[in-house]
Amino acid sequence: MSKFTIAVVAGASAAVGAATTAALYGIGSKKESSASTIATTTTTVSNPGATRTTPPPPAPVPLPRNAVPLQPPVDPAGVFQYGFPGPVSDIRNACSLTSSFNRTTRNPHWVAEHITPASLLMTGGDRRHSYFAEDESIPEKFRAKLKDYFRSGYDRGHQVPAADAKWSQEAMDSTFALSNMCPQVGDGFNRDYWAHFEDFCRRLTSFYPSVRIVTGPLYLPKRDPVDGKWRVSYEVVGHPPNVAVPTHFYKVVFAEDGKTGGKVSLGAFVLPNDRIPNDKPLQDFEVPVEAVERASGLEFASLLPPARRKKLCQEVSCSIIVKEYAERQRTPLTPPPAKGIAAQASPIQK
Ligand SMILES: *[C@@H]1O[C@H](CO)[C@@H](O)[C@H](O)[C@H]1NC(C)=O
Repeated sequence: MSKFTIAVVAGASAAVGAATTAALYGIGSKKESSASTIATTTTTVSNPGATRTTPPPPAPVPLPRNAVPLQPPVDPAGVFQYGFPGPVSDIRNACSLTSSFNRTTRNPHWVAEHITPASLLMTGGDRRHSYFAEDESIPEKFRAKLKDYFRSGYDRGHQVPAADAKWSQEAMDSTFALSNMCPQVGDGFNRDYWAHFEDFCRRLTSFYPSVRIVTGPLYLPKRDPVDGKWRVSYEVVGHPPNVAVPTHFYKVVFAEDGKTGGKVSLGAFVLPNDRIPNDKPLQDFEVPVEAVERASGLEFASLLPPARRKKLCQEVSCSIIVKEYAERQRTPLTPPPAKGIAAQASPIQK
């Protein structure tokens, strides 16, 4: 078992193991839909009974291996004249987040956000004035609907948390689009451990002047205890079934030192979409960034050279502080306590 597999299995808790689905997300090169002509060559039909009037065509010279004929006999890309099938990545650029949507699962592929000490101190937005809304920029037939979540038993789980976008009402509202949601287990996860994890990410701004977070769902394979084979299986909510229920969620955290070309402390976490006891250490869910990449088919830091990388959980204590749900609801807008991480561990050592 490779190192990252072990890591993901650990991160996935006992419930779900994880091999890595190397699902490559490749839109491929979107070739110009060819107005190119289909090469039709006219050949003389030889009639065996007739006397040849033209010399027989020269025997075709076999092309060297791998050579591409100048005039291919077919034009597969010509089908684009009827429309490009996709996939389409539905990039959404809102003031609070940037996201890409998976039309098959009706969940985002990833949602990216940026928080700073200053952005978290601003208080222009109040979640009591925000409403969950379908994302009308997604074609109707691929959209997640409010009714899909109704009585599904799952929360509409923000990927970019509303509390990270309280710097304006518009910013907060924009986190309430269903393209920023996935079905999440409520008690014990969305309202508890996951919320503490989001709080951990906010508290990072007491150490780093700029923090970027990419969040999204995973659908990890699970080993069948009967035949030993690995299969991906997930619930789909809605009538008719519409929105996939992810088995796991990831966050990739980029904690920046604020200097141009400076150091970036990276941390990646994979949590099961399930009740997690509050006493479970956050570090149990830490995985190499590459494990999230293999599992999601995405790449997160391909342009970040190794010399600029640091390891987040070697610099700060990657641990949650449990705040009860009721307490958080009473004081939803308090800035992250500067003492937060600092009180827990020295920034230098683990
Ligand atoms: C959408 O998610 C499903 C389930 O993980 C996956 O099979 C599919 O390839 C994804 N679509 C794209 C365009 O990546």
